[in-house]
Amino acid sequence: MKLSLLLTACAAVVSYAQQYKKVNVSEVFKDGNHEMTGSSTKLAWESKPDFDDFNTHKWVPQGISSTADALDVGTYEGVDGWLVSWHRDDDKSVRITFVDKSTKKYRHALLVYPEAADDFKEVPVHAGGIVWYGSTLWVVDTSNGIRVFDMGNIWEVESGDGVGKNADGSYSAAGYKYVIPQIRWYKWTPSFKFRHSFIALDRTASPDRIILGEYQSSADLPTRMVQYELDYTTRKLRTSGSGTTARGVWAYCVDILRMQGAVSVNNKIFISQSNGASKGDMLSWVPGSLAKDNVGFFPPSPEDLSYDKRGDAIYGLTEVAGGRYILTYKRSSIP
Ligand SMILES: *[C@@H]1O[C@H](CO)[C@@H](O)[C@H](O)[C@H]1NC(C)=O
Repeated sequence: MKLSLLLTACAAVVSYAQQYKKVNVSEVFKDGNHEMTGSSTKLAWESKPDFDDFNTHKWVPQGISSTADALDVGTYEGVDGWLVSWHRDDDKSVRITFVDKSTKKYRHALLVYPEAADDFKEVPVHAGGIVWYGSTLWVVDTSNGIRVFDMGNIWEVESGDGVGKNADGSYSAAGYKYVIPQIRWYKWTPSFKFRHSFIALDRTASPDRIILGEYQSSADLPTRMVQYELDYTTRKLRTSGSGTTARGVWAYCVDILRMQGAVSVNNKIFISQSNGASKGDMLSWVPGSLAKDNVGFFPPSPEDLSYDKRGDAIYGLTEVAGGRYILTYKRSSIP
């Protein structure tokens, strides 16, 4: 299989930055306006009469990453936290949640696409998985590839329902205070399809890698995983030749249905599998051997996964309204 992604540059974000108020990552983490509850290994989203992320049908949580993905030291600008992506019910917009682990407080920000030198619009993807790597945020774009956003250029906007530039010259983002602009786009190039359903970073590989995989609910279609190498100095995919096309360095037809997330740690791959309204499974797999299926390991509707070497933790999350959590497991205790 030749799996490859072509980098297409987005218009430079630098020129836009002058028009918006830039804030740094720690400011957003420290500006939480909602709070998670529950035990530290199973945290539930805020659920109040006037604001209910735990039960809303308007937004659905999908992807997870953390400051431990962003930087090897594990914290970013002094903060220890998670990022979570949510797609809107119509898949026409994505928000990213900054969760400060020390306070359990969180705030949502909106992903935006800079469509003109002085304007931006919403990003219409499912956002099934995310990876935070240095100052870049990688978001899967199902049939198209991966979009990359700039965590070094978070902009503060005014309140207001519109997204982008308003008639009075102000900027707003559907009521969200911060926006994160797209800077790159890796587009899938082969003639056959690949479904970019989830993504995770592997810092135990050298060089660093990302792993991507396909969700399928029917055995008629292949279910594959692919890994690409990363260049930590540029925070881009490693390429050869022309310099804009990245080839997968590892690919596997795994034939596991309903995969929602996977993370590779020291050559062992952990996979979350959803089972409708029933509890989800965690599979652990060393390529070349049969996978071990830990049936009912997760609460219903597990999604994307992420690893943190501090504490040897695997992070996951669930998407179903009425049962939405950020989950933390000890990797060494997963059979
Ligand atoms: C982030 O911005 C705040 C406010 O401008 C500033 O006090 C802080 O030093 C900045 N932190 C970093 C790590 O840049």
